[in-house]
Amino acid sequence: MAIKTLKIKDLRNIKEASFSDLNQINVIFGKNASGKTSVLEAIYLLGLAKSFRSQSHIALINRDAEELVIHATLQDQTGIGVRKTLPSKSLYKINGKPAQSAADLAQNLPLQLINSDSFHLLSGGPGLRRSYLDKGVFHVEHGFLPTWRRAQKALKQRNTMLKRGRISYSELHPWDVELIENTEIIHGLRQLYIETLKQELSLLTREFANFGEALTIDYFAGWDQVNMSFEEALERAFRRDSVSGFSTVGPHRADIKIKIGGFPAIDVLSRGQQKTLVAMMQVAQGTGVYRATGQKPVFLVDDIGAELDAANGVKLLSMLADTGLQLFITAINPQDANLEGLSVNNPGWFHVEHGRVARV
Ligand SMILES: Nc1ncnc2c1ncn2[C@@H]1O[C@H](COP(=O)(O)OP(=O)(O)OP(=O)(O)O)[C@@H](O)[C@H]1O
Ligand SMILES: [Mg+2]
Repeated sequence: MAIKTLKIKDLRNIKEASFSDLNQINVIFGKNASGKTSVLEAIYLLGLAKSFRSQSHIALINRDAEELVIHATLQDQTGIGVRKTLPSKSLYKINGKPAQSAADLAQNLPLQLINSDSFHLLSGGPGLRRSYLDKGVFHVEHGFLPTWRRAQKALKQRNTMLKRGRISYSELHPWDVELIENTEIIHGLRQLYIETLKQELSLLTREFANFGEALTIDYFAGWDQVNMSFEEALERAFRRDSVSGFSTVGPHRADIKIKIGGFPAIDVLSRGQQKTLVAMMQVAQGTGVYRATGQKPVFLVDDIGAELDAANGVKLLSMLADTGLQLFITAINPQDANLEGLSVNNPGWFHVEHGRVARV
């Protein structure tokens, strides 16, 4: 859902900023330390109830203030707000009523962030790719979250019993029923979503990839799903699990393997190509969610010029612009966001200087 207005008060170096009539594409430009990333951080807080760059509550609030306030109005008039007060209080509201959970916020304002940390999707551990996968499944299938929570709970109980030791498989098995049942649902939903993702990606690679069409995405369920059911996998892993004191197979071990010509993408792609591929995966997720649910995710792209040459910068921008979804892009110079020649009507340009924002 596109954001129409945004107000920020006392977030980092931004004392007060107001954005009205936001466009499909919004470029926020200015020098280093002017406050560009802070604008994206404000939007991110409204959609995910956390920052993408620090865990610290205090660090977010302007040094001379006691509290920060952020408010956005979406295209359908939904109002979302957050107030964070020293020392540690946070209050999130949707249409004036306290939000029940971060999932509520995410459902109103699905976001895709592309920044220099996005690379970790390729280079980091499976947990990041699992989160990426599950974020997509969460948006496409609302039943996913409660199922996932039940599986987590069952897994925790199972691990407690394994840690205690001296338990036989027949004693443990009855406790696995809940885990197996929920894992099968999770696995099915993840499989379905991976197919959506692959379709979206193949459309994008055909048009925008500079690494040919050799990209493959393979889903790993967290056990050898090709040769056995999860129940069998649990049984076979029992001896190992009881020695290690935790479950070595399961939905908490899922991953996606991203390869180019059969090699891990991280081993063969240049930094610029990695950035393009990660952006492609984010775009595929955004358009996949949009096509499946009609919900329109908002893209936050921090420092569009970084790591990309001019040609790839334009490619990335046109890929994003073609989605028709709303974008917030930061750049040091306006020319880094080269929108010429792209089918974009009337982008919004915002100059940030010492925490002050002016539409230009
Ligand atoms: N709690 C705070 N109170 C006041 N200023 C802060 C606070 N936290 C961070 N800052 C400052 O806010 C400024 C803006 O940071 P921000 O990361 O938004 O800049 P930026 O425009 O994205 O810069 P760059 O181009 O280097 O990425 C920085 O100078 C930072 O030190
Ligand atoms: Mg920045």
